[in-house]
Amino acid sequence: MTAYGREDLLRAASAGIRAPSLHNTQPWLFRLRDGGIEILADPARRLTAADRAGWAVRISCGAATYNARLALAAAGTPAEVALRPDRQEPDLIARLTPGITRFPTYTEDELFRAIPHRYSNRAPFWPNPVPAEDRVRLLEAARLEGAWLELLVGMTALSGFAEIAQSADRVLRRDVGYQSELIGWTHADAAPDGVPVTAGAPAAESHDLLPQRSFSDRRRAPGHDYEPEPLVGILGAAGDTQVDQIVAGQALQKVLLTATAAGLATSMISQPIEVPTARDQLRRSLRQTGIPQMALRIGYGSPGHPSRRRALSEVLPDER
Ligand SMILES: Cc1cc2nc3c(=O)[nH]c(=O)nc-3n(C[C@H](O)[C@H](O)[C@H](O)COP(=O)(O)O)c2cc1C
Repeated sequence: MTAYGREDLLRAASAGIRAPSLHNTQPWLFRLRDGGIEILADPARRLTAADRAGWAVRISCGAATYNARLALAAAGTPAEVALRPDRQEPDLIARLTPGITRFPTYTEDELFRAIPHRYSNRAPFWPNPVPAEDRVRLLEAARLEGAWLELLVGMTALSGFAEIAQSADRVLRRDVGYQSELIGWTHADAAPDGVPVTAGAPAAESHDLLPQRSFSDRRRAPGHDYEPEPLVGILGAAGDTQVDQIVAGQALQKVLLTATAAGLATSMISQPIEVPTARDQLRRSLRQTGIPQMALRIGYGSPGHPSRRRALSEVLPDER
């Protein structure tokens, strides 16, 4: 095949916009070019306080790229993927062109079908442990995308992570610019971007192990505390170049969808990645070589809601 059909490309973009992004900024654009699709960072949607270097934009666009790849693979022609293919165009994250036509694998189908069901669940999870076979699938998902996932085992590792994450959270809470940006992206109504207060965690309590972003001051019902021993995974890449961050974003999305397909809920905790000293402490606490790019909480949750996305026409500027 030399060119994808327009319908397949639009389906890829529709899958792309379901990716997660910091504060649901949706910092991506799509361009249909020469029978392929390009994923671009939208610099106007980079968070100026929380994301000075563009790390979160690249993680989010990497995740959108992975969703678009899944849609193309599920339609029967997996993409050839070129990351940052043009030095002259720094916002160009990935170019997807038609590869060899074949039937989708079971996993591609399963993960593609999981896209609309994945969302961030910041509520307390049930205390049930995540089975070993699901843990192995999560580790494999990251590895097959060129990244790594380390699942923290035992209370010592978990407490060490919690301490780093809480201290990073305190740094960010003291940052007035960061907090006002966060408030600006939190919405009480059904806006097409930003985080709806209904998707937030209950207000933090002093005995909480991990810092969950609450996006509201809603109190939790008595007895509805967080799971005492959450499963936390740290996802990382070989390094911290722009391409490493895009690779990490794709792997993140594969891990999240693998969890969704296994009936698991997830939420992200990026404070210890956003604060450089915390990220370095976290790096030194792990058994991996490379750089942590995201922390995740994984478990069994009560149903929540996917948050909204802007219309496809908003992210396809050439097609307007
Ligand atoms: C780079 C990045 C960092 C994120 N950090 C956090 C975080 O620290 N806390 C949190 O609750 N959600 C975090 N999220 C999740 C986003 O808030 C979420 O993806 C967005 O609001 C869209 O909602 P959805 O995941 O339910 O589709 C992060 C997502 C990305 C891509």
